[in-house]
Amino acid sequence: MSGSPGHSWPQAPSPAAPASPAPAPAPAESREGALARDALGALRAEVGKAVVGQDAVVTGLVIALLCRGHVLLEGVPGVAKTLLVRTLSATLSMDFKRVQFTPDLMPGDVTGSLVYDAKTAEFAFREGPIFANLLLADEINRTPPKTQAALLEAMEERQVSVEGLPRKLPDPFVVVATQNPIEYEGTYQLPEAQLDRFLLKLTVPLPPRDQEIAVLERHALGFDPKDLSHVKQVASAADLAAGRAEVAKLHVAPEVLGYIVDLARATRLSPSLQLGVSPRGATALLAASRAWAWLSGRSYVTPDDVKALAKPALRHRVQLRPEAELEGATADGVLDGVLASVPVPR
Ligand SMILES: Nc1ncnc2c1ncn2[C@@H]1O[C@H](COP(=O)(O)OP(=O)(O)OP(=O)(O)O)[C@@H](O)[C@H]1O
Ligand SMILES: [Mg+2]
Repeated sequence: MSGSPGHSWPQAPSPAAPASPAPAPAPAESREGALARDALGALRAEVGKAVVGQDAVVTGLVIALLCRGHVLLEGVPGVAKTLLVRTLSATLSMDFKRVQFTPDLMPGDVTGSLVYDAKTAEFAFREGPIFANLLLADEINRTPPKTQAALLEAMEERQVSVEGLPRKLPDPFVVVATQNPIEYEGTYQLPEAQLDRFLLKLTVPLPPRDQEIAVLERHALGFDPKDLSHVKQVASAADLAAGRAEVAKLHVAPEVLGYIVDLARATRLSPSLQLGVSPRGATALLAASRAWAWLSGRSYVTPDDVKALAKPALRHRVQLRPEAELEGATADGVLDGVLASVPVPR
């Protein structure tokens, strides 16, 4: 599981982890844009104060924030999924809420509901925890489908309707949902057809030996995962907006667009898949690749950016044939095959 190719993507520039040589930033970049990239680089170092490793996951979360996209975080229990998102939220001066998705959670517990106010003798809307810039939907597959559906609908619409009245969610509004990969008893799989509401599905691997030792060392020195007071706020919604404006300026060559479409088309022809990537999936891959190119300090998207994001952006948008699944095929394995077979533009 560890060292899967999905995690081999290069790291964004950060003071803690010097980046691989990247071309100089675009000359047209605004001062705000450059500052925003610095802030997001600093964010990675801050997260590193609590979480050892997991760089690819942190990068994926930053990409999603830039794209205002939602993330599904999957990993076995105890690999720091919750700690990662809590630490990320501590680095952002944004409104953060966490909801533990328990079996008895009702849709109104997430979205909010009308509450009777005895003083005014009227019903008033009380906002649920979904009214946040960053929402951690922890252990989403422990809650029954009705409550999942309320969240998934709000993610898509960016508003909630209570008693027929639509209420807009804040901007940005980004959901990070965590789930365990194994179907434990008493869990509810997210509906396959709605998985593409997540921009990225990131897998949180078990740490390599040296990093696991580093985790233990921190604990031996008294690290308390509940206390994140040493993690500083280093980026804001304004930084994300400035970054987003720069990402929008990025150049994408027709060859790169063609490459993304060829990858999507190849998944539709794969004999192992009963459902390939839709055009919506292709646009998600484009958006994520652009954000990654900008984070890497480039003003254009390369085929390597597309390759780096292909699995996170597409793995939850394909469906294996039951026969292929029985033979041990995985979405990542099929996507590796597709990446290896589709010609890369020069
Ligand atoms: N990479 C890591 N860096 C720092 N601490 C870690 C790391 N991996 C695990 N830990 C330790 O393990 C604890 C478990 O993490 P956490 O509760 O966030 O896991 P989880 O993936 O959310 O698990 P679950 O699926 O059971 O909710 C952390 O609080 C931390 O003490
Ligand atoms: Mg957890």
